Amino acid sequence: MDLTQAERDMLEGREGPARERAMKGLVQLGRAYGAPRMVEIGYAHIHAGMALYLEDVELMEELASIDARMAVPASVNIANADTVNWRATGAPESLARLQRRAAGAHARLGSDCTFTCTPYWAGHWPTWNTHMTSIESTVTIFCNSVLGARSNRDGFFAVYAGMTGRYPLFGYHRDEMRRGTGLFLVDAEPSGPSDFSCLGFHVGAAIGDGVPVVAGFARRPTLDELDALGAGIATSGGASMFIVPGVTPPYADVEAAFGGRDVPAPTRIGRAAIDAVYARYRDAHDAIDIVHLGCPHASWEEMKHYARLLDGRRIAPGIELWITASRNVRNAAAEAGLVARLEAAGAKVISDTCPMSCHFARTVSPDPALGVVPPRLRAVVVDSAKQAKYVRDMIQCPVLLTGAEEAVETACSGRFVPRGAP
Ligand code: F3S
Repeated sequence: MDLTQAERDMLEGREGPARERAMKGLVQLGRAYGAPRMVEIGYAHIHAGMALYLEDVELMEELASIDARMAVPASVNIANADTVNWRATGAPESLARLQRRAAGAHARLGSDCTFTCTPYWAGHWPTWNTHMTSIESTVTIFCNSVLGARSNRDGFFAVYAGMTGRYPLFGYHRDEMRRGTGLFLVDAEPSGPSDFSCLGFHVGAAIGDGVPVVAGFARRPTLDELDALGAGIATSGGASMFIVPGVTPPYADVEAAFGGRDVPAPTRIGRAAIDAVYARYRDAHDAIDIVHLGCPHASWEEMKHYARLLDGRRIAPGIELWITASRNVRNAAAEAGLVARLEAAGAKVISDTCPMSCHFARTVSPDPALGVVPPRLRAVVVDSAKQAKYVRDMIQCPVLLTGAEEAVETACSGRFVPRGAP
């Protein structure tokens, strides 16, 4: 790889052991993918240091101890416990304490300890053509497709990229990757994030690791709908970018989205394809334990919507309604009185984690010394195809997918209300 003098200084240890280690890792990554050189990045969304794995927290502390520092603005991905209100999710205090240790390491690294999968709603908003890195697939696809930034779906290398301000030039950082490979024309009129989540899930399964161009919308989708669309696409397939002509910068129309190549014959998507995703996640169940809203972590607009839906209502006995949002959004919502309205109905507003990321998952191996016992859940109701897939696959309990409005009806009535039911 061609390296600049500044990059060679890091690689050869003249910038200290932390940057040496980080640059060595990035050079290995770049060689593996045939990158000709590094690019300068402007933002990093990095690994949290997950409290369910002691070694993971210790790794972040070790980096801080060798004077690692973020070279660019950095936010931190979702964690295993709500660090303030861990009791609300039934997590043991030991888990929250460990997660707070990771937060301390991030403070020393100079990261904004957001512990969220939607750092953009918390103020991290990379602009068009900014090279960046992200450990979270939802963040990668939103930043590529809605903001026009350039990011791969990274792993721990995101930390190294943040420490050096560099990333190897490959994948979605290159123009050639940022062109459509399949065209989808939406004949339905999806409405709200849950419909868009199912639409994305359908498209993601069809496109694999290509770049879907999704067109034909009767109106411009909202930011929350685009967020849900991307999360759905990235969950059922390997895509990290979609193009909605007229929305995704700089693609003004379908022809531009294919970058001069022939426009392929479209695949049409009707309402039945969206409804099939809802139907796919409708498991047999005895009783409902948790209704969850806020996957990806809720935006300010979604918090307002949930508060309106719950005004004057009351959650049914025996059911918990979880609303997950970043602490930044939660704090803003608390100041505006929204959290008080949600809590008056009996909802729990939870930050830093989500059902999939907390101690519920049976497919991970919590350290027995932590005393974490995944609870037996009878069924979880969600309004996101991404959360639905993870609840079934990782928590391994029955899941029911519906819309946000119907999920609130479910929580208040104690009886599952499918999408579109009166
Ligand atoms: Fe975020 Fe958890 Fe959904 S990490 S995208 S709320 S599955």
